[in-house]
Amino acid sequence: MNVPAPGLPARVRIHEVGARDGLQNEKTAVPTAVKAEFIHRLAAAGLRTIEATSFVHPKWVPQLADAEELFPQLADVGAELPVLVPNERGLDRALALGARRIAVFGSATETFASRNLNRTVAESLAMFEPVVARAKEGDTPAHVRGYLSMCFGDPWEGPVPVHQVVSVAKALLDMGCDELSLGDTIGVATPGHVRALLAALNESGVTTDRIGVHFHDTYGQALSNTLAALQHGVTTVDASAGGLGGCPYAKSATGNLATEDLVWMLDGLGIETGVDLAALTATSVWMAEQLGRPSPSRTVRALSHKE
Ligand code: HMG
Ligand code: MG
Repeated sequence: MNVPAPGLPARVRIHEVGARDGLQNEKTAVPTAVKAEFIHRLAAAGLRTIEATSFVHPKWVPQLADAEELFPQLADVGAELPVLVPNERGLDRALALGARRIAVFGSATETFASRNLNRTVAESLAMFEPVVARAKEGDTPAHVRGYLSMCFGDPWEGPVPVHQVVSVAKALLDMGCDELSLGDTIGVATPGHVRALLAALNESGVTTDRIGVHFHDTYGQALSNTLAALQHGVTTVDASAGGLGGCPYAKSATGNLATEDLVWMLDGLGIETGVDLAALTATSVWMAEQLGRPSPSRTVRALSHKE
């Protein structure tokens, strides 16, 4: 049943990350043809922004080492296809294939910056600067997302102070990122903390229309945290079909908020997403068969349950 609640947006843009955040974490690499079919099926289910892959060092993330092979197979997908790019080498690779949306990925903590990027926070920002500047050159500048990881807690450093997050967030926007995605990389956030961070960002001059949220569901809080963000005015929400995911450089990270769980809640609230939940669930059931294990999404399990 569709029962709207007050104070929520009419429409939410889902930034689908299953093919990137999800598949980067699989023990064995998924065949390129399966990835291409996955992304085509996600688009057919109505997703309009589908993160496709990463142009990172293939030794760091071997699961996505086929980016050059995969990306050209997506020319007819009919959705925006952002890709992760850590440095100029990655940007060259992405631009050579015609990528129009890129994402750099920073960290609010020193330990994760070092483990994920082999850099300090300051060095990683210096690495992103020419990437963003070059992506923005020319008559048709690329859209640039700035991910920010460990916005709430870090497995090595514990709770992360809000001011520390605000400072790196502002640096990413100041260098020219169009939007921010606040990552709860290990899923430890709770709704009050989400509100506090959003309020602190607003106070420092970052407007809510430039903020997306990226919750991992380790402690089952991702939907509650999403609702808190929607109540604050956020309209861009990252999610992963079937709840695939994690981060290979943050061992306690589990899958992202499952897109089906998100769409179930948004449908129930009468919030438009353009996503066909039945087609999306069928896609995640198919993907779970390819991976050889069931989806952790409660909604996928409920909708695909057969007596
Ligand atoms: P490094 O070892 O410091 O690299 O890694 P380097 O700059 O010293 O270069 C060494 C060699 O690598 C050079 O080759 C480069 O050309 C090559 P050589 O000259 O020695 O022959 N190289 C590359 N080759 C291909 N593509 C590239 C590239 N860059 C350098 N892009 C680096 C630094 C940033 C490359 C490495 O740390 C890396 O690739 N890290 C990526 C880690 C990653 O992808 N993590 C997962 C994504 S983040 C995430 O999941 C969190 C998120 O979901 C949000 C959340 O949940 O919080 C986004
Ligand atoms: Mg993530």
